Amino acid sequence: MFPEVRLSRLRRTHALRQFNQEIDLLPRHLIQPIFVSETINVETPVAALPGISQHTVDSAVRNARDAFNAGVSAVILFGIPACKDRVGASASDPSGIVQQTARRIKAELPDLVMIADCCLCEYTDHGHCGVFNHHLEWNNDATLARLAEIAVSYAEAGVDIVAPSGMIDGMVQAIRFGLDHHNHHHVAIMSYSIKYASAFYGPFRHAAGSEGVFVGDRKHHQLPPTQRHEALREADQDIKEGADYIIVKPAQHYTDMIRDLRNQSQIPIVAYQVSGEYVMIKTAAQNGIVDETAAFLEVFHGLRRAGATAIIAYNAVEIATVLNPHSGR
Ligand code: PBG
Repeated sequence: MFPEVRLSRLRRTHALRQFNQEIDLLPRHLIQPIFVSETINVETPVAALPGISQHTVDSAVRNARDAFNAGVSAVILFGIPACKDRVGASASDPSGIVQQTARRIKAELPDLVMIADCCLCEYTDHGHCGVFNHHLEWNNDATLARLAEIAVSYAEAGVDIVAPSGMIDGMVQAIRFGLDHHNHHHVAIMSYSIKYASAFYGPFRHAAGSEGVFVGDRKHHQLPPTQRHEALREADQDIKEGADYIIVKPAQHYTDMIRDLRNQSQIPIVAYQVSGEYVMIKTAAQNGIVDETAAFLEVFHGLRRAGATAIIAYNAVEIATVLNPHSGR
């Protein structure tokens, strides 16, 4: 008891604080999202998502190289196709935009982990994450067949990990089955298992070119923010279906879910700081309300403290560079 115990002894100097540091945040914990578009000839900044561009294949490869050189472990690719249709056909096209980019990145940066977001919403003309039957009713099981086709085509393009983001029932099982059936046993699945219907996805829809297309919300699939046990059941279900990683998204406002999952499972957990969460801090910094780097580091350390193995962050390269100026490979 006090006065013998004085916990501030642990924090007296910078050296002691470092010595006592419980968790760390390193460049290798970060994952850089990359948007690659078939509709542009030159890298185009996304106004709604400062610091982020829609990339051509060439500029995406450059962005991936910057990530690798900064010590970032992985990139996650999102595709913006030239044509959208009812079934999102271009998502599984072997010469689709993600597949082209993946082949180039694999050839030029074989030691960078490559993840591809696996969803239909960027590829369908209606903007939904799946397909409809001829009565215009949502068709879960037909969606599963499409997701498996997309995953197989990504695997064939050299992707290490596919990341299904639609919260479709059975998506992990269908993708695992499809991959294995085509001898892609080595390709892993990172499932967006705990994904909430969030108000913080707005800027992403601009970056992914799905604004103006999509009306309504995704409440039929994504979790209501009130749900804790249901979220853990989603994760449990996906683990049973063969998920290798679980994403919690949004992460910044759901650190309790990261911790709950960490306490009940050994699976690696990926925290996704989503577009709205990122832009809020950026905007506050631009208005002199917070120090940008300090604020991001605090949030990312918080995600690690909650139990995240890795963090998807729009400024992964920038933060990796701050974390370790000598990390260049
Ligand atoms: C769906 C997908 C979304 C995000 C990542 N994957 C959008 C959605 O579910 O509506 C959002 C990410 C973010 O806001 O940063 N393919």
